[in-house]
Amino acid sequence: MTKVDAKPVRVSQTTITELMIPAYANFGGKIHGGILLSMMDKVAYATASKHAGTYCVTVSVDKVEFLQPVEVGELVSMHASVNYVGNSSLVVGIRVEAQNVKLGTIKHTNSSFFTMVAKNDDDKPMQVPKLILENDEDVKRFIETMRMKEIKNSVKEKMDDAKSKIEVDNARELLKDQRCQIKIRL
Ligand SMILES: CC(C)(COP(=O)(O)OP(=O)(O)OC[C@H]1O[C@@H](n2cnc3c(N)ncnc32)[C@H](O)[C@@H]1OP(=O)(O)O)[C@@H](O)C(=O)NCCC(=O)NCCS
Repeated sequence: MTKVDAKPVRVSQTTITELMIPAYANFGGKIHGGILLSMMDKVAYATASKHAGTYCVTVSVDKVEFLQPVEVGELVSMHASVNYVGNSSLVVGIRVEAQNVKLGTIKHTNSSFFTMVAKNDDDKPMQVPKLILENDEDVKRFIETMRMKEIKNSVKEKMDDAKSKIEVDNARELLKDQRCQIKIRL
């Protein structure tokens, strides 16, 4: 089989729509966040594997903030496209919308980003085709993702640093305005 060197964004763009049934709801009658996350993971896989032409795994998930609740009876659509490719990794952007067909409303619940890695038959990361950017939106998303990756790397370094510099001896002063109590059990 010939190896494809590059693919346009549009070739792997994927939308899935699913009816939100009562079994997906929590005790408050709203749809569980986990149901939406599972759908997002599936559409991310479909999109990434279409581009990569191979099996992909989920490595990290960014910007999952549910801005509005989803109700039973709504149609949830996930619009996904490959925003960026590295060597073996791909970042899939997913826009989630919930449609109420009776009211004729569509609400945007979240836009999230899944980093996926393509794997070969030996379960090792393998190179994916380059991304062909065919319009301004494709270019904008690629650059946005490059910037987000840079920010994420610097935040990761700061978080690792923050974890390594915690002095428990100073904790009482540091936590005096927080909603916790220190009662060390020896
Ligand atoms: C992620 C994984 C493939 C990395 O494997 P590795 O042998 O360390 O490979 P590398 O260090 O070469 O990384 C491969 C790619 O993943 C990217 N990557 C690794 N960790 C990452 C992270 N935390 N966030 C974003 N990207 C990451 C690297 O940047 C690299 O991208 P590039 O090839 O485009 O430059 C491996 O740890 C894995 O298989 N994890 C389990 C994934 C899984 O099973 N997911 C399902 C959920 S249970």
